[in-house]
Amino acid sequence: MTKSIIKGIGHYVPEQVVTNDDLARLMTTSDEWITERTGIKERHFRQNRTDSEEATAYLGFRAAEKALANAGLGAKDIDYIVFATLSPDYYFPGCGVILQNLLGCDTIGALDVRNQCSGFIYALSVANAFIKSGVYRNILVVGAEIHSFGLDFSDEGRGVSVIFGDGAGAVVLSATEEVASGDILAVNMHSEGKYAEELSVKFPGTKLGWSDRLLDDPKAIGRKDLYPYMNGNYVFKHAVSRFPETMKEALEKAGKTVEDLDMFIPHQANLRISQFVQQHFGLPDHKVFNNIQKYGNTTAASIPLALSEAIEQGKVKRGDLVLLSAFGSGFTWGSVLFEY
Ligand code: UT7
Repeated sequence: MTKSIIKGIGHYVPEQVVTNDDLARLMTTSDEWITERTGIKERHFRQNRTDSEEATAYLGFRAAEKALANAGLGAKDIDYIVFATLSPDYYFPGCGVILQNLLGCDTIGALDVRNQCSGFIYALSVANAFIKSGVYRNILVVGAEIHSFGLDFSDEGRGVSVIFGDGAGAVVLSATEEVASGDILAVNMHSEGKYAEELSVKFPGTKLGWSDRLLDDPKAIGRKDLYPYMNGNYVFKHAVSRFPETMKEALEKAGKTVEDLDMFIPHQANLRISQFVQQHFGLPDHKVFNNIQKYGNTTAASIPLALSEAIEQGKVKRGDLVLLSAFGSGFTWGSVLFEY
């Protein structure tokens, strides 16, 4: 039987580090408030905001190069790309095709996934289905975001802007018939679109177009709809109930228990959410990996960025049972349970 294994992994963040104190110079906030409410101490922002070279697909490209090297594969070995992001280089086309070109892959298929914080879970699940059904053998799965260009750094936006950061992570998911190697054991994906506006960027979008022709309207400049809106408390409450549901679902489907887990890697939305979930299941500290303290919430990039660091630090080893779970805008949520 064909199995899906994570053959290679890598991550990349722009060099510039922005601390909570740096943000406090732009808006009325403090290191104390941000640390207490979110656990975040710093995040990375791309260096030069006008440097189009360091756009989202480029971050994904740098992470993908590392994942390919880690897998011992070249760009020509990749059969398909799945790219998850909410901050694409262009409104269209998506980042997948740009990555295909940057890497110099053959004219392979490139799919973009728009499921925000759950983007990487959805992307990995799609890749797993292609591998298990025998369609492709080596798939590059990427999560990348540049949030720093689109945040409201005025006091009005402080409840949202302090949590986000830029970054990218990538994995090479490969088919194998070897019995001894790992596998993706269970996936689940969920959505509840009635909450779509609770965490959203509404403009540009056809629903909120207030003019027949988008750019004819002078009000387009300066619209706050260009920035993310988040009903923070509301999202938080849904997250802490949906995380345990999706985690249990994945474990039950694979016939595993929480005790069987070697590592849980939650989407890095807020350290308080991760800690709530950890406590709910009674997981010891060494079985949960968080790096939001250094990177903030990097949305679709957060899970591969955390998994990549956990592996790099020797906290996830071959053969370990690992659970990845996410919740976010949509609302969407889901999990991937795998043996590394
Ligand atoms: O990854 C996608 C999914 N996203 C999430 O899972 C995020 C979930 N939500 C959260 O993480 C939290 O709701 C936030 C960290 C975003 C906000 O924390 P909160 O504890 O829900 O704060 P709040 O919005 O209820 O605001 C509490 C107070 C308010 O002041 P008053 O009305 O009590 O006087 C805010 O104006 O804190 C104020 N505030 C701030 N103060 C200093 C809001 N943002 C800031 C800030 N610095 N950055």
